[in-house]
Amino acid sequence: MAKIGTAVREVIDTCEWVAIATVGPDGPHLSATWGDYIRALGVEDDRVLIPAGGLRQTEANLQTNPRIELLLASRQVQRAQGAGQGCVLSGTATLDAAGPDFDKVKARFPWARAALVVTVERAATQL
Ligand SMILES: Cc1cc2nc3c(=O)[nH]c(=O)nc-3n(C[C@H](O)[C@H](O)[C@H](O)COP(=O)(O)O)c2cc1C
Repeated sequence: MAKIGTAVREVIDTCEWVAIATVGPDGPHLSATWGDYIRALGVEDDRVLIPAGGLRQTEANLQTNPRIELLLASRQVQRAQGAGQGCVLSGTATLDAAGPDFDKVKARFPWARAALVVTVERAATQL
């Protein structure tokens, strides 16, 4: 069964930016990427690629706890109750500095030092 349904896909297609949450020794950690970056790399049903220029604390956190959540939102998605929809993608992630995912990210974003590869286990709307 598809993890990313129509409503979530609409948010992915129109969001401006994406919050990236991981857990480190001091608790939650937030970083971000741009919506057009993940769209440029093609969001699959169970995978999101993010270009990592920094994301060093995110990387350190993932080494001890691979859990990750992405929060996305867009005012352009209409609901019956009004304009705006958000969603959370939950799963695990690795930072890959070699391999096909890194090659794909590097080809589009030459400044990237690695690919943040998110394996999506659950996708749900928040509104
Ligand atoms: C809207 C937005 C988009 C960003 N996009 C990226 C990105 O695509 N790649 C990246 O490495 N950092 C990006 N950053 C910076 C990261 O959020 C983060 O601050 C930086 O990479 C340091 O990561 P760290 O706290 O995990 O060490 C972005 C920040 C914002 C606010």
